[in-house]
Amino acid sequence: MNAVSELTPVLSEEEIRKRVTDLAQRISADYRDESLVMIGVLKGAFVFLADLVRQMTIPVEVDFIRASSYGKADTSSGKVSFSDDTGTDLEGKHVLLVEDILDTGRTIERLIKRFKAYNPRSVGVCVCVDKPERRENDFKADYVCFLVEKGFLVGYGLDYAEKYRHLPAIYALKNSTSEEAK
Ligand code: IMP
Ligand code: MG
Repeated sequence: MNAVSELTPVLSEEEIRKRVTDLAQRISADYRDESLVMIGVLKGAFVFLADLVRQMTIPVEVDFIRASSYGKADTSSGKVSFSDDTGTDLEGKHVLLVEDILDTGRTIERLIKRFKAYNPRSVGVCVCVDKPERRENDFKADYVCFLVEKGFLVGYGLDYAEKYRHLPAIYALKNSTSEEAK
């Protein structure tokens, strides 16, 4: 079926650039003189993390973990699977998980539990978009770039069925097959 899609601008490149720079400065100040490992949650966070680390004013290590909860749909499957361990030695270091979107909160809850097992000094969370509408727990991220009340967002790393990740700004997707867009 050929779904009719429509993109509505939500966050411009300019707004994203400004907020990412501010956030990187805050994170740099909070972790100055500390060993910080920033861990991007793939695939969605690859653009956000790349922008964020280039604005950091302290040295950081970077690694990635791959999480999948959506498959090809826009509603959570309820299951989250992860790739193998990152391989970075995290003992005694501060870990900052970098996520694209905080939605139900399931993915991040599982990730925190997983990373705490490596005995880091702390596990923090930084998200590009906090979307509280469908939250299922009381989780609050340490760093939030944008708060967006609702909608299914694409662009700036975010996808719908693997499309739109390459767009430099963030859009809400209206799709005739998507419950989210209604
Ligand atoms: P959670 O476990 O429900 O918090 O799911 C978070 C993950 O679902 C994010 O990392 C995204 O990959 C995906 N996701 C949630 N909402 C959206 C959205 O609006 N657009 C694109 N992906 C989303
Ligand atoms: Mg994701």
